[in-house]
Amino acid sequence: MSNRTLTMIKPDAMKNGYAGAILDMIIRDGFRIVALKQLQLTPERAGEFYAVHKARPFFGELVEYMSRGPIIAAILEKENAVTDFRKLIGATDPVKADEGTIRKKYAASVAENAVHGSDSDENAKIEGDFFFSALERY
Ligand code: CMP
Repeated sequence: MSNRTLTMIKPDAMKNGYAGAILDMIIRDGFRIVALKQLQLTPERAGEFYAVHKARPFFGELVEYMSRGPIIAAILEKENAVTDFRKLIGATDPVKADEGTIRKKYAASVAENAVHGSDSDENAKIEGDFFFSALERY
């Protein structure tokens, strides 16, 4: 069990001005920020990040959405980080997300769902390495 996960605050949440409130929820839930940056993904980089979804019908829409504007990417640390963070963000589809979760509060739809959280320890490492060098982690 690893103690780190990777999150992105996605372009819809950034545009709607929810980044501060989302980061506040993350910190209040006990996560420590190991690394954090604001950036805009190119369509190529967004496609690379979500390569596992390449065959899905929504892949094109996902790439367009994730490269539409700036995001915040962060590595977060807490015991059982992957599982706990997925509890905090709620189900992929905000309609199915529990009350009080980030997606219930801030996501518009299953496609534009405000935040990302790694789905396994293995992917948390891959995704953390996608955005951050060793020198950018504290
Ligand atoms: P995320 O948890 O970052 O992982 C894959 C992303 O694909 C997901 O959040 C959504 O942004 C998007 N996604 C998942 N399911 C659908 C869907 N049915 N239609 C459109 N986009 C989706």
